[in-house]
Amino acid sequence: MIEYRDTTDGVTAEQLLGFFVGWPNPPSPATHLRILERSYAVILAVNVESQRVVGFITAISDGVLSAFLPLLEVLPSYQDQGIGSELVRRMMAKLSSLYMVDVVCDPNLESFYGRFGLTTRTGMVLRNYQNQSGD
Ligand SMILES: CC(C)(COP(=O)(O)OP(=O)(O)OC[C@H]1O[C@@H](n2cnc3c(N)ncnc32)[C@H](O)[C@@H]1OP(=O)(O)O)[C@@H](O)C(=O)NCCC(=O)NCCS
Repeated sequence: MIEYRDTTDGVTAEQLLGFFVGWPNPPSPATHLRILERSYAVILAVNVESQRVVGFITAISDGVLSAFLPLLEVLPSYQDQGIGSELVRRMMAKLSSLYMVDVVCDPNLESFYGRFGLTTRTGMVLRNYQNQSGD
């Protein structure tokens, strides 16, 4: 069974293993926990039996007009069960008083995010790969 939480209270780095799949220089679980703690809002999907975090989404925001969703991930063995959609749905509800909620994604995910009312724009990004681990 999956439980959704909107706080990192009581969460440890050990519960955060397995994320950042495919990242060459991923954040460690301890850094991941720091990312979650310092975000404006977070939703976690937790396997109730194992207490393992199996999915998460973060938002950063000015708390007045705008928010950005930098990270969304569901562990591979938990994908395609509706968990990612539930994380986005709950985050959108949390941010519903804001004017702008933006995400940058690959074209293959446009239809996924489109289900939540997001529309396609052109985004521009900078990546300093030497800083990817967050250390
Ligand atoms: C994107 C992601 C969070 C979706 O999580 P999930 O729990 O599998 O999502 P759901 O089960 O709610 O929905 C799955 C839907 O998303 C679609 N989807 C997921 N990943 C996709 C991909 N790479 N390309 C195209 N569609 C994708 C599935 O086809 C599915 O569509 P369906 O409902 O019509 O079958 C998950 O695939 C993931 O962690 N991917 C790797 C990290 C990532 O890409 N994050 C997004 C950064 S912007």
